[in-house]
This record gives sequence, structure tokens and C-alpha cells, in this order.
Amino acid sequence: MATTKGTEDNLEQELQSLTERETFEPPAEFRQHAVVDDDSLHRKAHDDPEAFWLERARQLTWVSEPTESLDDSNPPFFRWFADGKINASYNCLDRHVDAGLGDRVAFHWRGEEGEEEAWTYADLLRDVQRLANGLKERGIGREDVVGIYLPMIPEVVVAMLACARIGAPHNVVFGGFSPQSVSERMKVSEAKALITVDGARRKGKTAPVKTEVDQEGIGDLDHLETIVVVRRTGADCEMAEGRDVWYHELLDGADDECPPEELDAEHPLYILYTSGSTASPKGIVHTTGGYLTGIAHTTKIVFDLKPDEDVFWCSADVGWVTGHSYIVYGPMLNGATSVMWEGAPDYPDKDIWWEICERYGVTILYTAPTAIRAALKWGVEYPERHDLSALRLLGTVGEPINPKAWAWYHKVIGGERCPIVDTWWQTETGGIMISPLPGLTATKPGSATLPLPGIEAGVYDENGEELDEGQGYLVLKRPWPSMLRTLYREEDRFVETYFEKFGRETYLVGDAARKDEDGYFWIVGRIDDVINVSGHRMSTAEIESAIVSYEHVAESAVIGEDDEDSGQAVTAFVTLEGDAEPDDELESSIREHVAKRIGKVARPKRIIWADDLPKTRSGKIMRRLLRDIAEGREHGDVSTLREPGVMDDLAEKVREQGDEGDE
Ligand code: WTA
Repeated sequence: MATTKGTEDNLEQELQSLTERETFEPPAEFRQHAVVDDDSLHRKAHDDPEAFWLERARQLTWVSEPTESLDDSNPPFFRWFADGKINASYNCLDRHVDAGLGDRVAFHWRGEEGEEEAWTYADLLRDVQRLANGLKERGIGREDVVGIYLPMIPEVVVAMLACARIGAPHNVVFGGFSPQSVSERMKVSEAKALITVDGARRKGKTAPVKTEVDQEGIGDLDHLETIVVVRRTGADCEMAEGRDVWYHELLDGADDECPPEELDAEHPLYILYTSGSTASPKGIVHTTGGYLTGIAHTTKIVFDLKPDEDVFWCSADVGWVTGHSYIVYGPMLNGATSVMWEGAPDYPDKDIWWEICERYGVTILYTAPTAIRAALKWGVEYPERHDLSALRLLGTVGEPINPKAWAWYHKVIGGERCPIVDTWWQTETGGIMISPLPGLTATKPGSATLPLPGIEAGVYDENGEELDEGQGYLVLKRPWPSMLRTLYREEDRFVETYFEKFGRETYLVGDAARKDEDGYFWIVGRIDDVINVSGHRMSTAEIESAIVSYEHVAESAVIGEDDEDSGQAVTAFVTLEGDAEPDDELESSIREHVAKRIGKVARPKRIIWADDLPKTRSGKIMRRLLRDIAEGREHGDVSTLREPGVMDDLAEKVREQGDEGDE
């Protein structure tokens, strides 16, 4: 006991001294073999950005090579490599198989109960072609949207690439979202088919996914003609004659060869819905040539990827953009070997991630700060059970990383030899924009450091003046190939959201950032009504609208409250109708209702009952004041409130409810 305590104290001290260090140079050993070890790429990109990007694009295999780089004749509708033709699935699969790499493992898949499957590039190519043919037989082709609602199983990769092969944009919905939100996304995107599963496992339990999908009436949508069902858990489900088909039967009956469609560079590759300022999610549209160019390139330079030596593991879920770009497209475009894990970080035990790293010899690990904070809390005993010496590079994404978590990651997981790349980007940017290059950039814990070659980022004040130093609006000043092209069927919203504030050439990110004296970027957080829970983007408006749709609820205001574990946590202020009385039962029903409408990730951690909410004279809820109240601060200026007394009443209520909670 005494020794353990002693070691813990030592670790605390070491972490403390690490957090006091301001910068970390790339280790000499790493730098020696790094993919990028000088600033020549930056110089090329700076001197002639269009030539730089065209050269990157030409590293892919095109049906016909582009001669044009950026087309900026109609901003903000930028086009890239527009005269080229290409296929994403060909570049992820055939290209490597043709080069003799068919036997290389693309994914080491690991199931929750310890099952293992190794999927080679040739295996994937075979199934992708069959599924593509199966979809074609069902009348699905170019431009038809295909929904994908699958857990972390190899079929999700097959499904995405089969869509890409025939030019059908995929619309993947995160497996943690509720069937109801799948239904909404299928409806607004007018999906023609949905690929889903009989059941999904989570920490030893099985969710009957297909049955739940049926209960939401997804199959009743007119345009949705086909539901393909992967048989995975054997969970009972009904198969509607004519509409539903088993994945394995579709593959069994399909031809082995499906030539890839020759698609325009600007052909839509996928739609991915993400949260915005209003209750309706935004359908981010990515196209083919530019997206692939950006993703192939960033995977290689940011992760220093050496496809014939590395084992890459991005621990995100495929349903988020991180999974799209850095589980599927990035590693596969580069012909790399990756790991895919079905389950949670703490099942069957809290050492499962480290067991996986050891077992498959993971060399590059890419995860989220929230996962690191959880591991830190669980303690060093879990990583210490395993040999992590194969690791050579660590990455994070999704939210700012606090210095203590950074120091722990660096010391305990990286053994102080692995550089850490803190990568900033968004669903909209398609790929990483601001990040260290691990063999080149000195890192400062908590900073995503500097824009990548070809990316011009800046911090603007309210009037659009660029700040050399200081805090303001983060913007991207030049178009880049993997940028979103529009919001699906909402062109005006696209222009308003991103290209109104500072003009049609300047992309407004939606984050506040600070630039320091060395030009390093520090992301502060969102400037809109989007909150970040464990690195997952949530819209406060969407959660509010779910809460208000529950019986007896009159009004609701949702804020992100600072939270030690998840970065931010969902806190909901709720007012009830007439004489309805708040109680624990109502509280848990509201929480469950949100889980059903959106997904468990959106469930409020705390509900605060309120008689009234602080509003301006024009009726706008002042969330800033609600945050002050929730976090127990003195509240700021209340002079613009319609009823300034509301604040004191609320503060009193929070104190009372807090006391009850403590008992
Ligand atoms: C936040 C995830 C700080 C940011 C790839 C951004 C970050 C939003 C970082 C996008 C980072 C992402 N440091 N904040 N390294 N990476 N963010 O669309 O607020 O799910 O706007 O894309 O996450 O979330 P999204």
C-alpha cells in the first residue's frame, strides 16, 4: 500500500513539473525518420497554393487527371480539381490490390467478447463489389442517398465504400443516436436505402436495432425502398417482404465484379449531419476529389504515416467525421493497417484499450481528451498491465486538452518518447486544419499549434480586422480542397452560417481562438449555441426542442456547464406548465425522452427547475446568465433583462436544489 501511494505521489509531482514546461521539441529520434522534417511543404504551399494542391491531388489515382486546381468564380461555392474524374472506392481498394498489397490487413477488428477478424484489402474489395452490385440491383445508383446505421463492425466500411463505388452519397448516422433521429435524417435526406443491423452489442448487452428502426416507422418513408440488414447478433427482427433484405443474401447473390463509376471530382461523396445553432441538424456535404486529396495528405503528414510499418488506431466511432476521415478514408487511401474496436473503453475491463494496443502493436493512437481524462481517473494500473512500447505517436481531437491530461498522455501512455499532435478541425473542414507536424513543430500543451501547409487561419475581431495576437473569431482565409461544399438542400443557410459575417471568401469557423506571441492557436470554444460533450457536438436548440416536446414542459433553456470528465455537460433549465409539480420521476422521464429523441449523449446531466427564465426585452434567453447561475458565479449585468428579479429567484432555486442533491 505504502509503495503504491509513494508512486502515485511521484507521478503527481512529475505531471506537475511537466505541466509547468511550456514547450516540447520533437524528439530527435522521431525527427530523423519523419515524413516531414523541414518547412519545404509550407514554402511550396505559400508560394503557389494552387500548384501545391494540384500536386497533392495527383498523388491519388484519377480516371482522368485534373488540370485545374481551385475554381473560385462563384464564392462561396468553391470547386476543386473540377475537370478531373475519380472514384473513392477505387483509391481505397483496387489501387492497393493492383499494386500487390491485397494481402495486407486493412483492419484488425476486435469484438467486445474478444472475437478477432483480420480484413485484408482484397477481402474488402470483394465484399464492396458484391454489395455495390446488390445495391445496383435494387435500383440504387448515382446521387441516391444511402443511410448507414451500423455499430463498429467491418460491414460499416464495406457499406461506405460500396456506396462510394456506385456514386451513391452515404449518410452515416452515429450508432449512439436514437432510431428516431435516424428516421429524421433519412427523411430530410430522402434516402433511398438504409443499411442497418439486427442488433448491436454494448457492454455485454444487445440492442435490437432493426426492431427499433421498424418501430420508428422508418420503412414507411415513401422514398426509402430498401433496408439491408446485417446479421450480427441474431437478434429477432421482422423482414418486410420486398423491402428488407439480409446483407449476406444480397452479397451471396451478387456478381463479384463491379467496375467503379467514373465520377466528377465534385460528385458528392457523403452527407454527414452535425449540430448547428438551430434545432435542425446541418447536412454537411463533402465531394470526392477535394475531400480525398485533403484526407490522404493530412493522414500522411500529421500522423507521419508509414503504411508498411505502422498500425494506426483512431478510436472514434465511424458515425462521426473523425471516423469517416481517419478510420476509413485516410488510412485506406494510404494503404495502411488499422485497428477497429467494437466496444467501450471500459468493457470487459478498463485496460481493454491498452490490451488492444499491445496485441496489435499499435504505433499511432488517435483519441479524444475526454477518453484520456477518463483513463487518468481510472489510474495507471490499467496501462501498466500492458506493453505499450510500439507506440510512437499520439494524437487528440475534439476539444481542447487540459495540460494535466496532456502530461499524463505524454508520460504514462507515450513513455515520454511520443510526440502528441493536438489536431483542430470540424465536420465542415473534412480534415485536420491546425495541428503540429510531429517531426517539425514544437508543441505547447493545450495548443493545436499552427495551420498545416496550404491552410491559412486567422483570428479576427468583430470588425473583421486580423489580430496578430489576442482572442477573437477563428477564420480560414483561403478555400481548401476538403471543405464542405454546401449544406444539403439548404444553400442559403450555408452562406449565412459560414460566409456572411466576414464576406464570401472568408470561412467563419464558429470557434473563438487566441493567437499567442509565437503565432500559435489556442482554441477557446464555440461562439454559437453548440456545446461539446466528450468531444461530441450537440446543439442546445435541438435538446431544448426535445425537452419542450415532453408533456407538462412549458419552456427549456440548455447550456453547457463545465465538467471535469466530459469537458462540458448538458444542463437544462426547465419550467413547467400551470400546476404541474417537479419531481424525480418527471426528471428521469425527461432525461429518457431526450435519449429517445436524440440519443443518450444528449441526455441532460442536470435539470434545474425554474419558475421563469432570464430574457431580454425582445424575449431572447440569456444563456450567459444561466451559465453563471449553474456554475455558482456572481451573475453579470442584468440591466437588459425584462424582469431582473428572475435571476435572484433562480439563484435561490439552484441553491435549494443543490442542497437537496447533497443530502
Ligand atoms: C472542437 C470533430 C479544441 C471545436 C473533428 C470544433 C476542438 C468542433 C479540437 C468540431 C481541438 C475539435 N481543440 N477544440 N483539437 N478539435 N474541436 O464537427 O469546437 O464534431 O469547432 O468535428 O470541435 O466538432 P466536429
